[in-house]
Amino acid sequence: MRSPFVAGNWKMNTTATEAERLVLEMLDKLDKIEGVEKVLCPPFVSLVAVSMMLQGSSIKLGAQNMYFEAKGAYTGEISSLMLSELCEFVILGHSERRWYFGETDEIVNRKVKAALANKLKPILCVGERLEENEAGRTEEVVSRQLRGALDGIEPVRDLVIAYEPVWAIGTGKAASGKQAAATIQFIRAVVAKLWSKSMAQDLRILYGGSVTGANIAEFISYLEIDGALVGGASLKAEEFVSIVEKTAEIKGRKK
Ligand code: 13P
Repeated sequence: MRSPFVAGNWKMNTTATEAERLVLEMLDKLDKIEGVEKVLCPPFVSLVAVSMMLQGSSIKLGAQNMYFEAKGAYTGEISSLMLSELCEFVILGHSERRWYFGETDEIVNRKVKAALANKLKPILCVGERLEENEAGRTEEVVSRQLRGALDGIEPVRDLVIAYEPVWAIGTGKAASGKQAAATIQFIRAVVAKLWSKSMAQDLRILYGGSVTGANIAEFISYLEIDGALVGGASLKAEEFVSIVEKTAEIKGRKK
């Protein structure tokens, strides 16, 4: 049985002061929700403060990016070794990294390897752009991204995959539950071929892209979809708590 998973990707939002305020606003309510793995991914500059605030709670911490080298003369970069003292998770291969910062499948692959080497659990993002979707190339793109990111990596259960169609991110135009579930089923089939059927059954696969308190139920009602990677709505305490609550309620019922 895969345990449900909801992560909030705050992206480049919140100053350190705002981050602490946001955590305070949601901490107690979020902490009490059982049956869902809950992860907050604030910006780097707030990781230390947020990790202290989350101590003793059931909420876990994730970073939004990292560099693949462990240390050295890479001005401005943060390594998996550094993050491993603070975080359990790290988002890798996010489309904003791919499209704004030129991250290739090969770079994502090196990052996944480096994260795992330092016991950080990657939340690996894949997803097609609008023109790829319209050209019927979703499966081809997602398959290439997955094979690229996981190239040379031994099967690991410490991996979460997020299907985030680029056209659904920050646009208010979420995929339908049916579309997301179909692509996630396809992702499981790719993992089954790359690794094994049992790995494909065990890995958590999330949907991300304009998830809100109002539409979360549509996604997690599908058995294939194990949870969500939430952007904008994770910056609103009440809404994020409601997304996690609904996930706990709906997934709890299906057990
Ligand atoms: P939005 O929820 O703001 O569309 O962002 C999704 C996302 O990119 C999460 O990583």
